[in-house]
This record gives sequence, C-alpha cells and structure tokens, in this order.
Amino acid sequence: MKDQTEIRGHAHSDTIHDSAIKHVTGRAEYTDDLNEPSGLLHAYLGLSDCAHGTITGMDFTDTLAHPGVRGVLTAEDLPGVNDVSPNGKDDDPVLAEGRVLFWGQPVFAVIAETRDQARRAARKARISYQELPHALDPIAARDAGMGYVTDPLTLRRGDAGAAMQAAPRRIKGRFGIGGQDHFYLEGQIAMAVPGEDDDMVIHVSTQHPSEVQHMVAHVLGVPSNAVVVNVRRMGGGFGGKETQMNLFACVAATAARKWGAAVKIRPDRDDDMTATGKRHDFVVDYEVGFDDDGHILAVEGDWYARCGFSADLSGPVTDRALFHADNAYFYPDVRVSSHPMRTNTVSNTAFRGFGGPQGVIVAERMIEEIAYALGRDPYEIRQKNLYRNGQLTPYHQEVSDQILPRIFEDLEHSSDYQSRRQAVLDWNAKGGTIRKGIALTPVKFGISFTATWFNQAGALIHVYSDGSIQLNHGGTEMGQGLNTKVAQVVAEAFQCDIGQIKITRTTTEKVPNTSATAASSGSDLNGMAALDAAEQIKARLIDFVAERWQEPRDRVAFVPGHIRAGDHMIPWAQVIKAAYMARIHLSAAGFYKTPKIHWDRATGQGRPFYYFAYGAAVAEVSVDTLTGEYVIDRADVLHDVGRSLNPALDKGQVEGAFVQGTGWLTCEELWWDDKGQLRTHAPSTYKIPLASDRPRIFNVRLADWSENAERTIKRSKAVGEPPFMLGISVFEAINMAVASVADYAQPARLDAPATPERVLMAVARLTS
Ligand code: MTE
Ligand code: MOS
Repeated sequence: MKDQTEIRGHAHSDTIHDSAIKHVTGRAEYTDDLNEPSGLLHAYLGLSDCAHGTITGMDFTDTLAHPGVRGVLTAEDLPGVNDVSPNGKDDDPVLAEGRVLFWGQPVFAVIAETRDQARRAARKARISYQELPHALDPIAARDAGMGYVTDPLTLRRGDAGAAMQAAPRRIKGRFGIGGQDHFYLEGQIAMAVPGEDDDMVIHVSTQHPSEVQHMVAHVLGVPSNAVVVNVRRMGGGFGGKETQMNLFACVAATAARKWGAAVKIRPDRDDDMTATGKRHDFVVDYEVGFDDDGHILAVEGDWYARCGFSADLSGPVTDRALFHADNAYFYPDVRVSSHPMRTNTVSNTAFRGFGGPQGVIVAERMIEEIAYALGRDPYEIRQKNLYRNGQLTPYHQEVSDQILPRIFEDLEHSSDYQSRRQAVLDWNAKGGTIRKGIALTPVKFGISFTATWFNQAGALIHVYSDGSIQLNHGGTEMGQGLNTKVAQVVAEAFQCDIGQIKITRTTTEKVPNTSATAASSGSDLNGMAALDAAEQIKARLIDFVAERWQEPRDRVAFVPGHIRAGDHMIPWAQVIKAAYMARIHLSAAGFYKTPKIHWDRATGQGRPFYYFAYGAAVAEVSVDTLTGEYVIDRADVLHDVGRSLNPALDKGQVEGAFVQGTGWLTCEELWWDDKGQLRTHAPSTYKIPLASDRPRIFNVRLADWSENAERTIKRSKAVGEPPFMLGISVFEAINMAVASVADYAQPARLDAPATPERVLMAVARLTS
C-alpha cells in the first residue's frame, strides 16, 4: 500500500484517490459515522405487502405500545406536498395515501429512541387492503392496458418499413433483458437536524444534493433557502442515489420537524432492495434487414420497459436506450420506439449507463443474428457496419470522432484475437462437455445529459491567507475519484502541492442549483467549473504580482510552489500573504456549461451529446454444458478516456464497470413472485460477482493515444459509465459457447442474465 506521503507531492497524473487510505483503514466518514446530535431519534419505514390495493385500515396500537416508540408518521403528517417525483409529475408519494401501487411501498414510518425499537415496532402495525388487479412485467402491463408512465419516444431516419421489405434478408426476434440492483455497499441513509425557525440540515448519501434540498423544501412547505444538504461521500451510488434517497431525506426531515429532534433513517438491506428502484428490465422486439455480405440495411425495434408505478427517471432512461440502439453501427433506415410501461412494481431508476446498455446489447444481438445466418465471425460483421465519420445516428447527430477502427485493430492484435478464436473453434470441434466461446464487442457511448439544462456546474475556491486552499464543487464523491480529479485540475492551475488543497464535503450552501453527479459528466462539468474559479483568482494574482514586483504581466508565471515575476521566484505562501495585505479578493465562484449541445425531443433530432466515448473488449469463457456453469478465462479491454486526467483512477473505473456489467448479464437476477413480492432482496438470493468470478486473466488498457476532439477538461473523456457495456463481450462469448452444441447453426439467443439455469436450458433446447 502506498503511504500517506505519496498522496502529497505535485499533482502527478496518477495521484491516488484522496480517500484511498481512509477507505481501506475504515477512517473515511460516511453519513452513519457522523457524530450524532444528542436526543437523536430513529425512523423506520413500514412497507406494503400488497402489489396493488386500497388501504382499508391502519392499526398502530401494538406499534405505539412498543418500548421507546415516540409515534408514527403517515401521509397526513406531511406539512407540504406528498410527492418526491423528480420530474414534477406528482406521482411519487413519500408515504402511500389511500392506495398502494407496489409490494414494498412505504406506507408509514415509526419514530423511536433506537433504530432497533423503530424497526421492531414497524413490524407490529396492521395495515389492511382491498386488493386490486396488478400487472408486474411490461408485456402483462401492455396486455392489461396499464399505459405509459411517461411519454414514449420514436427515433427515425429514412423509411425503415420500405427498406425492410426491400432487404434481401430479414430476421425478427424477441430479447428479454434483466434489471439490476445497485447493491451499493452503503445503503440509503439520511439524518435530519432541525435548526431555528424553519431551518433543516440534511446529511444524506446522495448523488443529487440540490434535488434533496428542493424535495425536502416542498415536503416541509418551506423555501429552498431553509434547507441545507451535505454529503461528504457515498459508499457507492451507481445511479441508485440519483433520486431514490429523496424519500428517506423527506421522512427524516418531516419527523425532525414534528418531534423537534434530529432523526436518522437507515433501512435494512432487504427493505432497501425492496423499496428502492433499480435498473429497468426490458423486452425488446427487433427486426433487422441485411444483405448477403452482412451490411445492415434496416432496423426496427420496440423497447418495452418495466418502469414501475411512477415515472421517476423512466423517460430519460428509455430515451437513452433508443440513443444507444445503434451502439457503434450505422443503420441506413431505422425506426426505434420506446414503451415506458406502468407496472405494479417499484419505480425503476438510473443505473450506470442509464438505459444505454439495454440499447447497446440489442445492437449486438442483431449483429449475432446476421453473423450466424451468414456463417461468419460476428467480429467481421461488426467491422463492416461501424460508423464512418459523417454518417448520421438515428437521432440525426453526425458522428465525427469515430476511433473504433483503431481500437479494434489495436485490441485484435494485443489480445491475439484471431488465433485464439481459431483455437476456440478447434476446441469445440472436439465435442466435449466443456465448450468455449470468444467475442470482441465495442461500445460507443454518448456523453452529456440529454436534458440539456443539466449540463452546467459550479465551483467555489477559497485561498486562505496562509496559502491553504479550500475547494468546493457541485459534484459528489461516490468512490469514482471525482474529488481527486478536480483537485488535480486546481493544483495544476495554481502549480501547488495537491496536499495544500482541502477537499470538502459537497454542500448546497457553497454551490447552488447543481445537477446530479451522473451521466458520467462529473469531471467534465465540475473540473471545468473549478478551473474557471482558479483562473479568476490567478488573473487577480497576476495583476497584483506584476504591479508589486514591477514586471509586465506576461513575465509573471505560476511555477511549482511559486509565482515567478521576471527573475524573482516568490513562494506561494508569501504571494498569498502579500495579496491578502493588499486586499486582493482570494475567493472565486466558477461556472461551466457544455457548449454545442441541443436536442428537440418532439422531432427526435439534435445533437444531444457533446462527444462519444469508445472502447472494446474481448472475452473468452468456458461453459460446462452439464451444469450450465461458466468461468471467464480471459478478458482484454481497451478503453478510450481521451487524455486521461488520472490513469490509475480511470483504470479502476474501467475494471469496476466491466465487472459490474458482467454481473448484470450473468449472475444478477431479479425475481418477483406472482403476488408482486421481490424474492431476490438480499445477498443470499441476489448474487453479485465475487472476486472469484473475475476474469482469470484480466488485461485492461487505456487508449493512451486518444484525445478528445472537443475542448473538454484537458481533452479527457468521461469514464464512469461507458465501460459498463464492455461486459457484453462476456455475454456474447457465453452465447457462442452454447451455440457450439448445435454447430453454430443458429445463435443461442439467451435472454439476460445468462444464469447457469438459462445456459443449461438453452443447451437442452439446442440439442433436443
Ligand atoms: N464508481 C464508483 N466507485 N462508485 C459509484 O457509485 N457510479 C457510476 C460511475 N462510477 C459509481 C462509479 C455512475 S452510475 C456514474 S454516472 C459516474 O460514476 C458518476 O461519476 P462521474 O460523473 O464523476 O464519473
Ligand atoms: Mo449514473 S446512472 O448516471 O448515476
């Protein structure tokens, strides 16, 4: 392990995560570690055990008699509105009112002196329901006429219907794509501390402090300026804390107001998994038309999503599935539509990739269909159909930064793809029970929030008179290393030691009106805003030094630890002291908004993305055809982060995303029973990848020759989400191994996740 001293020193690019040592030694403070105010009370949620019904009675006699219980909170106790929908749709109650719309919906909260008392007392409530019919999955919901939770979208270019009819070959299929639980190690948590007048301070594990501020203000019926939201760090968010913590913060705040005491709420893992939204699962009907050479001519597709009982982020998530329905391939004529289905399940939400993975994987399925139909290597079909610069996506954005041909060439070579594929074919030809598969798949991922106004950020830098620096920005730290990257940007601007910069918690008091740290855009946006603040202070210092040391401005420069004025080298601390004495303003607020982007949802056209991030992976697997079990023998990843701000952190993101993407497509399975109860709600029944599931050989490289064609922060590219989709290489490799049992006569067409059960059933189907 590196020691503390190595964090210091100038901001060399592979600076370790600012909290790395605190993470591994247990000294990093999470919300539950904060010193608790005296008189702290605890809240615990009571969840519905009915998928759809009218509430006919609520009996809290035994709950209230439980030791330590101070009271029960229901919808009636909310002073403001009973809604935490992030989109103004008024369809996301904090606590159920009159009816419940899914199994696990929060109905009430118990407030008690200890968490254990609140938790036990909540189990003693008796809620009765008049049950109503329910629909759980998107197809059942469609058949039951449940309708959409939000407006659907269609993207089209050309005439897909006519081109399909004219295509020499056509294949139709249906693909079931599973959801995913975030499984952040730190669950949802909030602590509300009431102050004087209507003030409320919220400590909460959130990716979106400004939204918590607004939600708490609405629910309490106070203006936003009465609410302060703080988050030092999260123990993982992955999209699961973009909107889902609003409810917890609002329950804590309402109880804090009512009982005049600080209140903390932290659900058990089971309740967290049952009551909070997840990745959307989809059923996709696709049709692809192509020629005998494997060129795609036309694509049509319908994406049916299980959105749950409310809209939440389902609009932008299902939109993004369509934005990535092409992955990296040019579709000459195309029509793709989303169907955001209302279901009686928890409301699904953001999850790394934000719907993109559920688009990309369908493109890859269609590539496989073509390859198997023509008896070719899918990799060949991929190469043939890659975008060329100048071509238009289905949303009419021109692709102009295509680097996949070079990534393919580099990776094909470094992974020895061709000879390993031949070895896999030879192995399978022997016909044993262990079958192998190999696949090389790309990703092209659009960077920017598709809601254009979210693409803005602020930062605040204070230089104190002793030369130490405090850095604040609107982004939140969830393990991805955002704070380290932004501090590096500022340290380089000032040419100071990174140890001189104090990274503080994110707070709505310092930077207002922020966007969620999401869409992988944290460092793009906040890095730029922080740089803007640093440049303002630098400009003032240059003016000051030029005048004081009597040198022209262009002879004043920031050099390591000093400012140079002509031949004078003045130490940083000395400059700052002198600047303070001369009454120079040593604080600045920075701002940034992404240029060039625009998007018109009504026409389905625009430039929603500032640029694309690219990558590719080769995975090789061995599948046991008697048990359905498999291992990943090897994975080689080559990923594009432009000019990396921090290669060590970026590699960590790529590795983590690849493994999480693999988990989504292999072992992580969500399963609801027919009453609507989620039965996979704990690590005992929901399996995330373990260290033992990692690829046996795992070669991860950054495309160090790449740089962003756009003027992003130091020409870097966003990294958080794009490599998630490289896990698709593992899924495709498993499909190949399975298809080998019937001599590749047809693709295996596994639904995701490819659990051992599914693999075994596919083997049985293909050999029967
Ligand atoms: N990495 C860690 N360690 N923990 C996380 O919760 N979230 C991912 C990704 N990487 C996440 C992570 C998601 S969903 C996003 S959108 C980005 O980080 C957000 O951070 P960024 O914009 O700073 O990349
Ligand atoms: Mo990430 S799903 O955009 O929080």
